[in-house]
Amino acid sequence: MKEERRKTSSTEDTAIPSQFSLFGLLLLFQAVFTERRVLGCVHAVRVAGVNITSQAHLVRGTLGGEALLSVSYTSTSSDQPVIKWQLKRDKQQPITVVQSIGTSVIGNLRPEYRNRIVVFENGTLLLHNLQLSDEGAYEVEISITDDAFTAERNINLTVDVPVSRPYVQMIASSVLELSELFTLHCSHVDGTKPTYGWLKGGKVLTNDSRLLLSHDQKYLTIARVLMSDDDVYGCTVDNPISSMRSVPVKLTVYRRSSLYIILTTGGIFLLITLVTVCACWKPSKK
Ligand SMILES: *[C@@H]1O[C@H](CO)[C@@H](O)[C@H](O)[C@H]1NC(C)=O
Ligand SMILES: *[C@@H]1O[C@H](CO)[C@@H](O)[C@H](O)[C@H]1NC(C)=O
Ligand SMILES: *[C@@H]1O[C@H](CO)[C@@H](O)[C@H](O)[C@H]1NC(C)=O
Repeated sequence: MKEERRKTSSTEDTAIPSQFSLFGLLLLFQAVFTERRVLGCVHAVRVAGVNITSQAHLVRGTLGGEALLSVSYTSTSSDQPVIKWQLKRDKQQPITVVQSIGTSVIGNLRPEYRNRIVVFENGTLLLHNLQLSDEGAYEVEISITDDAFTAERNINLTVDVPVSRPYVQMIASSVLELSELFTLHCSHVDGTKPTYGWLKGGKVLTNDSRLLLSHDQKYLTIARVLMSDDDVYGCTVDNPISSMRSVPVKLTVYRRSSLYIILTTGGIFLLITLVTVCACWKPSKK
């Protein structure tokens, strides 16, 4: 009896503190959530801050052309802003393109940017005489001494050379039906970041088990040529700023006709028979 009582009491003893700790935990959670809500309110209420808006997140530029990385900002302060544009290229340290107070540039520009850069009052950056190396992610940071928060904005810039008209190359303009493989090649001279595509009878070709596109889509290989492959083919080259289409080329497929084979072998057989008959007939005349 005594032992039993002790057992029950001991279980009660452990049960009570665990209930308490659960309650404590709930209190803690509640406290954390309330604190978060309060912080959230503070966040929304803040007035002193710069706010940047941009029209585009991606600007496509042409080599030698210009790019307007357009932004504008709002602030409660009327002070001059400090504007800083940085360029981040793949796996490289960000470089400061320009830093200015309002529109006046601070310090000396890097040699590659001299005479190529204008900063406008609204924070916009204009790049002249675009170089391929100008491509990358640009980050603008605008801060005003009075304002507690600075603002940032990212704009990606691509710089490309327009593509020239591509042309289709093939070994011959005709092929015999059921040939194992026939390859067409798409070539072009100028243009950066080309992506290739193919057209058959004016319609876009997709990778197929018989009409195979190489991984870069520069080559189109026709496997086990069929009569339906007799068509006009063309290729396309695209890049971020341009798109070109080749002159269509005609591929003629000749039928490997079984009837024709029968006729030719039959013909040869007939000829041999005739020759033999003639040869045999002459001596019989004597
Ligand atoms: C910044 O401006 C946008 C657009 O006007 C607005 O939706 C947003 O709430 C503003 N943000 C701040 C922190 O003022
Ligand atoms: C900022 O100013 C420049 C030059 O006046 C203008 O071309 C550009 O569109 C402006 N940007 C915005 C977002 O208003
Ligand atoms: C087309 O398919 C072949 C084989 O399935 C593959 O090797 C090739 O990379 C594919 N081409 C494209 C452009 O996906």
